[in-house]
Amino acid sequence: MDVQQAVVSRRSVRDFLDTPVPEAMLRTVIETATRSPSGGNLQPWHLHVVTGDALARLKALMQEKVSKGFNEVPEYEIYPPKLQSPYRDRRFEVGELMYRQLEIPREDKAARFEWFKRNFQFFGAPVGLFCTVDDNMGPPQW
Ligand SMILES: Cc1cc2nc3c(=O)[nH]c(=O)nc-3n(C[C@H](O)[C@H](O)[C@H](O)COP(=O)(O)O)c2cc1C
Repeated sequence: MDVQQAVVSRRSVRDFLDTPVPEAMLRTVIETATRSPSGGNLQPWHLHVVTGDALARLKALMQEKVSKGFNEVPEYEIYPPKLQSPYRDRRFEVGELMYRQLEIPREDKAARFEWFKRNFQFFGAPVGLFCTVDDNMGPPQW
């Protein structure tokens, strides 16, 4: 596979097998990713890799938190507050398509919430990767 093939065949996966990922493979993936460019060569990212018991504990914790409802206020806006066309339309369309594929009707809020909760279970993935930047970093480092 070359880079172009990899890019055009890329898609979001929302259901994973629980097959463990060999540590050597994880290291290769991460070491490759750290070849990414950064402004001023800050390399501002921190990577946290969670697997095994730690991931099981994190999933259990998130399950408990989310089952009580989802009321955490994010520290920043994930999307601009007044999303305009065509961005708004794209967001709406991808939601429509996804829930149609899952056969969850738009008005079935409970089923939608059940699906949403899977975000916090890493869609069943055996590895969770967190990429963070320090608080004092700005949009260029993001
Ligand atoms: C920064 C970022 C955050 C995302 N967050 C979520 C998410 O929380 N849940 C989810 O199901 N998909 C998430 N996605 C996936 C996008 O919805 C997805 O990339 C988009 O619908 C396009 O689909 P595709 O990746 O299959 O081409 C995210 C993607 C990006 C780049």
